[in-house]
Amino acid sequence: MSDLRTLDPETREEQRAWDYGDFPYGLEPLIMPPLDQPAVLAPPPPDLLTAYDVERTRAALELPPRATGLALPDSTDALYWFRWITGHQVTMLLWNLMGALVASIAEGEDADDRTLTDLESCTNGYTAMLQYSGSCSPEIYQALIRPRMYLQHRGFSGLWAADFAPLRRLLRGQAMPWMTGPAGARLVAAVATNRAAHEAVAARLVPAGKSLLQQSVAGTAVRPTPRTAAIFDNFFMTIRAPVGRDAVVAQLLHRVRAVALDLAANGSPSTADEILAPLRRVVADLPRFTR
Ligand code: HEM
Repeated sequence: MSDLRTLDPETREEQRAWDYGDFPYGLEPLIMPPLDQPAVLAPPPPDLLTAYDVERTRAALELPPRATGLALPDSTDALYWFRWITGHQVTMLLWNLMGALVASIAEGEDADDRTLTDLESCTNGYTAMLQYSGSCSPEIYQALIRPRMYLQHRGFSGLWAADFAPLRRLLRGQAMPWMTGPAGARLVAAVATNRAAHEAVAARLVPAGKSLLQQSVAGTAVRPTPRTAAIFDNFFMTIRAPVGRDAVVAQLLHRVRAVALDLAANGSPSTADEILAPLRRVVADLPRFTR
């Protein structure tokens, strides 16, 4: 974060309204627990996480009214790059929480209603992030976003995301034996909606419907490995370090706040509501994740 005292008054006001990254619509690195270790109780790395205050951020999700000095991006590229990277970071954090929930379900037993409901609200949060990350025009996707992923790796795929791996069967819509009762049925419906949202964003941004991976199947298709997970992490400014669940939650809140500020400044009220309502639901339930 820049030191507000060194900035001119106008920039200072803008920075106050925008409390993420070094400048409005700037990015932040994400620190996630290592792939082979779920988030456990561990002290946050000193300098990296002191900026996060869970209670303050939760309170700050109550947004100022629209058009009261909210920071605007200086270009559409800056806005949609912020959304692409930060939206994926929020998604990775939601997947991580979901992975812990799935891991907590005992072999051969039904999941309790609370767990199923938390999985449902995280799934809805992921659906909202598909809409948010993919909110650019097809032209911007083709000119700004896709070429960068292609240059990083021509087979770049969401399939490589480490935190997605433990959820693959669930999020592909396979019925899990522990998804029982009305809460289980609601989770099934949330997953179906999520899959439809992914298809819709893919069809809108790439009308031909071919992903980078599918396009390169003949020569360079690369199945997920720790190496492709590292490529995915690296693209989305993510490092792995032994941080605890509190750090996962705090980083999620910090980003949801930035998404909310962006939508207050740049979204129509209905779009902002559609994306923020599921995130607010997750935020309301976050204390359970820090037990
Ligand atoms: C908006 C943010 C996006 C996220 C978070 C995302 C995430 C994912 C994930 C996790 C997978 C693996 C699914 C599985 O294995 O079942 C996947 C696969 C896929 N995605 Fe996306 N996706 C996004 C946008 C897009 C876009 C814009 C396209 C455009 C074509 C796309 C096309 C595909 C395709 C075709 C697959 C199937 C596997 C592959 O061929 O790569 N996705 N995505």
